[in-house]
Amino acid sequence: MSNTFEPTLDGETLLRVLNARYACKKFDSSRTIPDDIWTTIEDALVLSPSSYGLQPWKFIVVTDPDFKEELAPHAWNQPQIMSCSHLVVFCARRELGGDDVENLMNLTAQVRGLAATDLHGYASMIGSSISNMSPEDLLNWNKRQVYVALEQFLMSCALLGVDACPMEGFVPAKFDEILGLTDVAATVIATAGYRAVDDKYGSLPKVRYDKSDVLEHR
Ligand SMILES: Cc1cc2nc3c(=O)[nH]c(=O)nc-3n(C[C@H](O)[C@H](O)[C@H](O)COP(=O)(O)O)c2cc1C
Repeated sequence: MSNTFEPTLDGETLLRVLNARYACKKFDSSRTIPDDIWTTIEDALVLSPSSYGLQPWKFIVVTDPDFKEELAPHAWNQPQIMSCSHLVVFCARRELGGDDVENLMNLTAQVRGLAATDLHGYASMIGSSISNMSPEDLLNWNKRQVYVALEQFLMSCALLGVDACPMEGFVPAKFDEILGLTDVAATVIATAGYRAVDDKYGSLPKVRYDKSDVLEHR
């Protein structure tokens, strides 16, 4: 790791990519995201930041058409589910406890060449902030972390020229049931692939409030 961070793209390119991405409604089902690109997207997901670095998530990648078929009715049969190349179910851990903090501290010590004792203060701070939360607050907090990963996913797709759609239009409990999720809760999903030529949303102009309406300088 270096202590300098050189820009890898200019502002104009960044804004061009962000204007070009859109919530794809229909993918070209004959196109699959190549393995190397998908692997990069998975690696980018794993790099998502999280509060205290706890990574309270699991990402379930669904490509099996049988699973997609079973899930689609529980996502209002939105065409993205069956037409996408990859569907990601972003899940939040239902619980976090002392063992999770210990695991993270052990990994941190190992990766950064520290003694576990060097991290006792940090570990107890994380432990007390977790133990002060109700189970409901903890799950909601974990879900918020998952949304950060969602954005990292969307941005990564966009930069790699992959179309995607973030989706809350699904029944999480049904997804949990079909995918056999117990210790994690389906929170938000995203589909990815390449846009169908007849997806008219791809050419619609962006609808965004004026910057002055949503941003203030103080
Ligand atoms: C959290 C979240 C949930 C969304 N859920 C759906 C969805 O279920 N189905 C869908 O077609 N689009 C969904 N969208 C896409 C939004 O409608 C879209 O991002 C928004 O209208 C802005 O358009 P753009 O992304 O094309 O710029 C969702 C977006 C977000 C961020």
